[in-house]
Amino acid sequence: MRLVPEHPADDLVALDQDHPGFRDAEYRARRNAIARIALDYRGGPVPAAEYSPDEHAVWRRVQEVLRPQHLERACQAYLDATARLELPEERIPQLHELNPRLSAATGFRMLPVAGLVTAKTFLGHLGSRIFLSTQYIRHASAPLYTPEPDVVHELIGHAATLLDEEVAALSERLGQAALVADEAGVAELERVYWYTLEFGAVEEAGEVKAFGAGLLSSSGELARFRSEAELLPFDLERMARTDYDPTDYQPQIYVAPSFAALIEGVSAWCAARFPG
Ligand SMILES: [Fe+2]
Repeated sequence: MRLVPEHPADDLVALDQDHPGFRDAEYRARRNAIARIALDYRGGPVPAAEYSPDEHAVWRRVQEVLRPQHLERACQAYLDATARLELPEERIPQLHELNPRLSAATGFRMLPVAGLVTAKTFLGHLGSRIFLSTQYIRHASAPLYTPEPDVVHELIGHAATLLDEEVAALSERLGQAALVADEAGVAELERVYWYTLEFGAVEEAGEVKAFGAGLLSSSGELARFRSEAELLPFDLERMARTDYDPTDYQPQIYVAPSFAALIEGVSAWCAARFPG
């Protein structure tokens, strides 16, 4: 996916040829219109992305599939946070609906972004308790698959966790480190973020439970990660130097001994690696 047109006649959002919506002119128009909201955003309440009945139907379908998986495979902190956030099941909520609750709980806000941004930009905003969120939803032909972060990933995977002060504080700490880190340091922070807040798991009562937003927003990952991924001991040094492939199921999942151990471990690593 590119965001900057190479020619003025190009779509604002250029989907790859293998994207489920590549041949759907209506979907491409929706993607362009929703990207425009982010590009035109200049502060204040986030303008609504007016979703179509079909888009709400995709959300409902994903919720139907993910909810039972969460009950079985999500960590307790996530279940507690989702119970507090109460995302609607029948329609896609707007960022401006969620932000007052996030702000009241932890000071976090979700602000619109048109698509993928650099790690430095994404993490750097976390340093100000701002989470850059897409607003578009995946293509209706593949409701359980997205090749890129969409509103399902942002809201079902991340939003609830931003109500949790420990996750919020850790996100802010990683973000502040990214603002002062050099290129190599940002790459380490990006990988640690990936292996923990996106794809980390924790042990609870002898079971491995999903913690990261990438796991929690993907039916496929939730179904397979405990049996098919290699479950590794929680090793931040190894995470920091291990590249990842965002386009496929994750072959390796790092498992922290507990939610508290994950938060404390990443915080301590960050403080030691990026002091000050
Ligand atoms: Fe994410």
